[in-house]
Amino acid sequence: MENEGALKKLAGWIDDGGMVVFTGAGISTESGLSDFRSPGGIWDRFNPAEFTLQKFTASAETRRNFWRFYHENWKVSRAAKPNRAHLAIAEMEKKGKVNAVVTQNIDELHQAAGSSPEKVLEIHGTMWKVGCLSCGDISPWEDFFQLLEEEKEIENCRLCGGLLKPATVSFGQSLPADVLNEAQHQCTQCKLLLCIGSSLAVYPAARLPEVAKNAGAKLAIVNREPTPLDRIADVAIKGEAGEIMNKVLSLLA
Ligand code: APR
Repeated sequence: MENEGALKKLAGWIDDGGMVVFTGAGISTESGLSDFRSPGGIWDRFNPAEFTLQKFTASAETRRNFWRFYHENWKVSRAAKPNRAHLAIAEMEKKGKVNAVVTQNIDELHQAAGSSPEKVLEIHGTMWKVGCLSCGDISPWEDFFQLLEEEKEIENCRLCGGLLKPATVSFGQSLPADVLNEAQHQCTQCKLLLCIGSSLAVYPAARLPEVAKNAGAKLAIVNREPTPLDRIADVAIKGEAGEIMNKVLSLLA
């Protein structure tokens, strides 16, 4: 495999411990899920401008489109299984090499692969819960999936009458402050920030690898395409996340 030298360097840094893994949708494509910005990705099929919090709260039509999107997304994602990249990260945690997994993903495949839930920081929330935008009440997704299967309207919050929305962070919506604070803290403490499958195009998430680098960590990027942070990375490895992470796992001491 090309990148042999970079893979060995990365494996050595992982062996030293103190790693934070930062992941994006590209780590889940080998599980059959679309990413956002690859050709044919979600934002090729849906208009991101329609998926803002402002539009969701302002228009019943937008809310119907949101629920239609999640109805499809739940159907596809519930069948998805963790792939070799998720499994390698869980294995590295078992070896004591992972301080935290900061993920932009909402699919919970890291937890399904065996990463400890308390170490997985979901800075863009999760698709497997539905929350009230007013009182914060949280419900499981299944009830809403069933309503959508029966082509029923999604009612407002049964406790306060507020609007219900999948518990993911939409454009224009704040990231969960407690999760983001812990992610920032982990990035300032780590010795290695390993970024996998992200275009590093969306802020504030994409600032976190720079926070780690500026705090003295090594920065490693594994991605199919170049990213804006390749220029400051200690290693930038191009290719498929599953194959690369499997290879790196095999090179660990
Ligand atoms: N292996 C390696 N890289 C891959 C693979 C793969 N199997 N599949 C896709 N990629 C790369 C793509 O080339 C792309 O650069 O992963 C990256 C995914 O980038 P995006 O689709 O932009 O996803 P992400 O970076 O997670 O987006 C961030 O944007 O729309 C918001 O909230 C959404 O959390 C998401 C955020």
